[in-house]
Amino acid sequence: MWYLPRAEDTILTQSDQPRPLEARESGALIGQVRIPGDKSISHRALILGALAVGQTTISGLLEAEDVLNTAKAMRALGATIERTADFAWSVHGVGIAGFAEPRAPLDFGNSGTGCRLVMGAVAGCPITAVFDGDASLRGRPMRRILDPLELMGARVSANGEGGRLPLTLIGARDPLPIVYRTPVASAQIKSAVLLAGLAAPGTTTVIETEASRDHTELMLGHFGAEIVSAREGSHGRKIVLHGQPELHGIDVVVPADPSSAAFFVVAALVVGGSDLVLSDVMINPLRTGLFTTLREMGAAIEQTETRGDAGEPMARLRVRASKLRGVEVPAERAPSMIDEYLVLAVAAAFAEGTTIMRGLHELRVKESDRLEATADMLRINGVKAEISGDDLIVEGRGHVPGGGLVATHMDHRIAMSALVMGLGAEKAVRVDDTAFIATSFPDFIPMMRSLGAEFS
Ligand code: S3P
Repeated sequence: MWYLPRAEDTILTQSDQPRPLEARESGALIGQVRIPGDKSISHRALILGALAVGQTTISGLLEAEDVLNTAKAMRALGATIERTADFAWSVHGVGIAGFAEPRAPLDFGNSGTGCRLVMGAVAGCPITAVFDGDASLRGRPMRRILDPLELMGARVSANGEGGRLPLTLIGARDPLPIVYRTPVASAQIKSAVLLAGLAAPGTTTVIETEASRDHTELMLGHFGAEIVSAREGSHGRKIVLHGQPELHGIDVVVPADPSSAAFFVVAALVVGGSDLVLSDVMINPLRTGLFTTLREMGAAIEQTETRGDAGEPMARLRVRASKLRGVEVPAERAPSMIDEYLVLAVAAAFAEGTTIMRGLHELRVKESDRLEATADMLRINGVKAEISGDDLIVEGRGHVPGGGLVATHMDHRIAMSALVMGLGAEKAVRVDDTAFIATSFPDFIPMMRSLGAEFS
């Protein structure tokens, strides 16, 4: 008997008690830290490990709520997953199309990536599963994922408008390979199609006009799939996956997450006298648009000890407080820094001059409407910000008055960006709820404090 939760049944992984916090102007941030593992890679390592035959070991897994929800979902689908030491996990997979039918709804909490990638993996298996999440995830569009999965033979029953959660997905017994052109640059759409395509005969092709992060393609290659990615047009990629490979368990070392490192990088830039070293930061070029932009703004970011692990390059970054200037960020850079605009806007507020960030329509469908939320966060702290179509324009004056209370909207990155802003602002910046930081970076507050950040 299938239970499809109603929209009023809230499955919250968060405590319902808001946890406000204030960040005050701090002395120099000094020290060296190892940022936790990359969220995108952590999700993928668990999912591909669950679809492989044999054992996958993962070291440096991000132990945050989003990723732990993916681990739970993989267990519910039949994989054996154990935590063997701090940040070390082992996965015994079930093989492609080998998922068992879960006995309860899969609850992804706040995580769009976990939910959408697992939808792809389930779409290629002859099972039925209910997908659900918290109020933020229930508000996010799922049609963009369901459309290609239906073309591949999956069936969907959803009560919510636009295929929103909660929904039931019935995987295809004989999935069809397709050629799919993604309507927006999204690694989640691309990955869902590729994961469903694993179970299809022949070749599944995804074409994107703007290249999005390529961790799924790289990791699939390491697990033994035959997959080829080639340039398409001026900024795009065409990815061809040969279906029904046998994936074999591997050892995955997860590098530090550049999207989490971003908060420390910007904090070091805007807090006078700071000098921070961040080790093992992933520098896959499809993730480093923020670092490129900050360097254009005049940021002192030195990159050393560059090396690679399992196809993902990483480096040590040394960041020193810098005088920043406003720049124009082109729309085609957006996919390589899509999660970093909030914190870039903070850097732009401390810069001298105008920063124009173009082509930000996708920010409207993240954990919150980040375009509006970014402008609100700045304005309430005395910074001039304007939204014009899909562009965000920030008038930097070299300093930030602060003094505002920022609404988190169930969005971890709003909370962390606002706190970073408070560390350099003239008056304290308060956030209404830091609880959602645990979805991606549970140690953010203690790690910042250990470097000298003042929170109370
Ligand atoms: C992610 C892709 C991005 C990003 C998200 C993680 C991934 O979403 O915003 O935080 O791991 O594939 P889109 O690709 O849908 O933009």
